[in-house]
Amino acid sequence: MGIVTSKEMFKKAYDGGYAIGAFNVNNMEIVQGITEAAIELHAPLILQVSKGARNYAKHVYLMKLIEAAVQDAEQTAGFDLPIVVHLDHGDSFELCKSCIDGGFSSVMIDKSGLPFEENIKITKQVVEYAHDHGVVVEAELGTLAGVEDEVNVSAEDSSYTRPEDVQEFVERTGCDSLAIAIGTSHGAYKFTAKQCTRDPITGKLVPPPLRFDILEEVSRRLPGFPIVLHGSSSVPQEFVDKINKYGGKRPDAVGIPEEQLREAAKMAVCKINIDSDLRLALTACIREHFWEHPDHFDPRQYLTPGRAAIREMVKHKIVNVLGCDGKA
Ligand code: G3H
Ligand code: 13P
Ligand code: ZN
Repeated sequence: MGIVTSKEMFKKAYDGGYAIGAFNVNNMEIVQGITEAAIELHAPLILQVSKGARNYAKHVYLMKLIEAAVQDAEQTAGFDLPIVVHLDHGDSFELCKSCIDGGFSSVMIDKSGLPFEENIKITKQVVEYAHDHGVVVEAELGTLAGVEDEVNVSAEDSSYTRPEDVQEFVERTGCDSLAIAIGTSHGAYKFTAKQCTRDPITGKLVPPPLRFDILEEVSRRLPGFPIVLHGSSSVPQEFVDKINKYGGKRPDAVGIPEEQLREAAKMAVCKINIDSDLRLALTACIREHFWEHPDHFDPRQYLTPGRAAIREMVKHKIVNVLGCDGKA
């Protein structure tokens, strides 16, 4: 199996009422932590690479690391790990083409910030090239708030997906999956305190609920079609607390409640994007490590527990959010 497209994965996920986790990768320890979790739980997997990750690590390094993970799974666990290698938030035809030519099995073209007709035009161009090369395409309608490839989209500039647009968009572009905006947002600061209410007992911030009415209407108009949710980290309080305790500064970070993502995964959502939670797990772990071992300076001393923290986080997501354990 090895590197595959998401076509079959999404069909099974749609019918089975679960979702596939799409985790962002930037280096070897992150690739290893995520794939170890997927191997242990026999979960299908999407590893995604942003433009920033590609600039940081170089395409060829990330590609070879992912190929190594597939080979290692087979050799050490006897497991044929199915992995989709996906470009996250491709912002141009050229970037998508370069990833397709370089062996990715899936790309996202994100022109959701452009007017409808321009979004259709560029998405269609990417779809034609991708399909000619056996690669699938994710597109986006609606705008999420938060930081995307170093650009910050304010809450005021974000907008929910309009269900009345989705059929025409999918038919005219030929895209294979569609990311929609129903209230998730990128980064560890998804909501301001003003957008939230406060739990009267715990005093914790409670974010506004996801717009399940939009998701339902989109899936009614696109039966059987895979929907994608970006910005789906839950920003677990224990990691925020740990970062703050060990010298970091992440006050009042709020994410998407896991139960709501689980509900979405039971519906038409087949791909759930998680990056910030992995960053939190890694950062919290390394901060704690240095606090307890200020004399350490060998990267293996802090990257070993860092990789394990990522593995445990991904295992938690596979079981509690995605429901895709045992599905590979
Ligand atoms: O949606 C964005 C992802 O979290 C990737 O972030 O552009 O910093 O690599 P990045
Ligand atoms: P988070 O920032 O919520 O992890 O979202 C990641 C994402 O959508 C990557 O495309
Ligand atoms: Zn995203």
